[in-house]
Amino acid sequence: MPIELVKPCKEFLPSYLEALSEGTHCNMALGAFADESVDEISRDPDEYLKRINDTSPRVVELPDGSSYTIADHALFWLVDGTRYLGSVSLRFAGDKEVIEEFGGHIGVAIRPGLLNKGYGVRAATLAWQLAGAYFKERGINPIFVSCNPTNTASKRLIEHNGGKLVQEKSDAFGTGPSLIYVIDLCALEQQNKNS
Ligand SMILES: CC(C)(COP(=O)(O)OP(=O)(O)OC[C@H]1O[C@@H](n2cnc3c(N)ncnc32)[C@H](O)[C@@H]1OP(=O)(O)O)[C@@H](O)C(=O)NCCC(=O)NCCS
Repeated sequence: MPIELVKPCKEFLPSYLEALSEGTHCNMALGAFADESVDEISRDPDEYLKRINDTSPRVVELPDGSSYTIADHALFWLVDGTRYLGSVSLRFAGDKEVIEEFGGHIGVAIRPGLLNKGYGVRAATLAWQLAGAYFKERGINPIFVSCNPTNTASKRLIEHNGGKLVQEKSDAFGTGPSLIYVIDLCALEQQNKNS
């Protein structure tokens, strides 16, 4: 089965709900604006899908009381033909502080039952490709990504995709320590062509 990124849709909703019952998995920085429980989603699945596909600006409230706007964003599901495997959140534009000093341009989360099987690297590679075209079109390069220093899987995933550590924050907006990386999309594209 080919692994691909698709917009959240009815076809994969049953598998997504099954993934939610495996435990919390969307704990990426900034979330993915898709935190409803199985019960909440089941009450009105169409409304849920409509909401999470809505790319209009969202305000993010952070634990230190500050609030920022993610002006342009999109959520994708990583699927393999029948199963929901994980989520990818792209934040194209918004308040610079929250993107460059905390949440980053890209967030990836793999469903709990499929962790540590290589899906994260696959999702991130597809996300970087997808975002690459969008950012290039708008002249945005490099992009920023972040993770908690204790999150080894996320650190490895970022390093696999050309991430260079540029900042270590002891506390990012009240959420605790955070590592900030930059990724040069042009260099990454070249590296992928050569490999
Ligand atoms: C980060 C995350 C997406 C990685 O996905 P994954 O499918 O489990 O990762 P992969 O199987 O692709 O492995 C990626 C690397 O991390 C390593 N890894 C995976 N799980 C690990 C763990 N629990 N401890 C240490 N290393 C781990 C793998 O060995 C691999 O490194 P390598 O290729 O150098 O051997 C996943 O852990 C996740 O969804 N976490 C919750 C959300 C999150 O923290 N997102 C990141 C912030 S935006």
